Amino acid sequence: MARVVTSIDAVRARFRALQRPLAFFDGPGGTQVPDSVIDAIAGYLRAANANLGGPFETSRLSDELVTNAHVAAAGFLNATVDEVAFGANMTTMNFALSRAAARSWRAGDEIVCTKLDHDGNISPWLELAHDKGLVVSLCEVDDECHLDLDHLRSLLTERTRVVAFPWASNAVGTVTPVSEVTGLAHEAGALAWVDAVHYAPHGPIDVQAAGADVLLCSPYKFYGPHLGLGFGRRELLESWRPYKVRPSDDFPVGHRYETGTLAHELLAGFVAAVDYLRDVGWDFVAEHERELGRQFLDGLPASYRLHGIPSSDGRVPTFAITHESRSPQEVATRLGERGFAVWHGNYYAVEIMERLGLEDGAVRIGIVHTNTADEVERLLAALAEI
Ligand SMILES: Cc1ncc(COP(=O)(O)O)c(C=O)c1O
Repeated sequence: MARVVTSIDAVRARFRALQRPLAFFDGPGGTQVPDSVIDAIAGYLRAANANLGGPFETSRLSDELVTNAHVAAAGFLNATVDEVAFGANMTTMNFALSRAAARSWRAGDEIVCTKLDHDGNISPWLELAHDKGLVVSLCEVDDECHLDLDHLRSLLTERTRVVAFPWASNAVGTVTPVSEVTGLAHEAGALAWVDAVHYAPHGPIDVQAAGADVLLCSPYKFYGPHLGLGFGRRELLESWRPYKVRPSDDFPVGHRYETGTLAHELLAGFVAAVDYLRDVGWDFVAEHERELGRQFLDGLPASYRLHGIPSSDGRVPTFAITHESRSPQEVATRLGERGFAVWHGNYYAVEIMERLGLEDGAVRIGIVHTNTADEVERLLAALAEI
């Protein structure tokens, strides 16, 4: 994506939702959306609301919008238009796609997930394992929460069907070596099944370069509406038998996996979110987030422990911290009272919390490019006071 010169003030001016005292460090749970996304959603409902394929104006406009949304999704992921599909959210899509993929698998076939995964990329496999007698194993992490690739290698066998892993951890912020993991999966004859939900707001996704067979993300984590977005390699989407109703179209092939009527108004919002990110540019996102991440790490008071990578390298600026004496819930509540939105608990990343021995989870500070240095400074001061 071309570099676009911008500033944090110019970015924030595009979000009426940010014009309030609350400082949002809850991006990993869902980002705020720019006004253009809100306007696109409302605009669709005002001017084009209809179902598809009708011989009248609003239906034609809806047909056009749905096509545009798939084109935007394909551009966002560097996929082809027929390889992308929309759904309710990542979790729902993952249950559906994993089921379609597994129809011909047999008892004893194996799935490898990781301890960095959100449960949205573990439970679909556990439920399949329950139904079909598959074996699910979990790849370990080291003490700084890097994926243990030697352990991954040791788990791969000729029965491995899928290596399911996250591009980035929604709990501790680790960025995984995606191409290396997809390469290992392919060497073993397995599919590389990538959860890019947490990574998507932080950097560009290229499914070809990544070597992903399936990749899922959620536009509500990257400045868009509450939706899921999936990619599947065309040959796979063609070879699987989808769970679908008979009259719905089989082409483009990705559409086989979009059951029922899509949320057209949200697709309009999605197109606007992709346009917004193109305007801002990934260079700005990366540089700004890195600066704020460094500021946070440098200023974290000594009464807190950081879990995960202790530097800005190999991670996104999502930080799991615990206080020396107060529970994560207490810290998050006190921050909430002081005007900071943060999450506490496990955020469905149950395996990494267990691995770290964090029964009550942690406080998650999620920094995105719409945050400011002033917000981080105020957050650090509030953490010190608690
Ligand atoms: C890494 C990761 N994967 C999957 C999910 C589930 O996404 P969705 O809410 O779209 O089902 C989340 C949500 O927090 C997440 O952070």
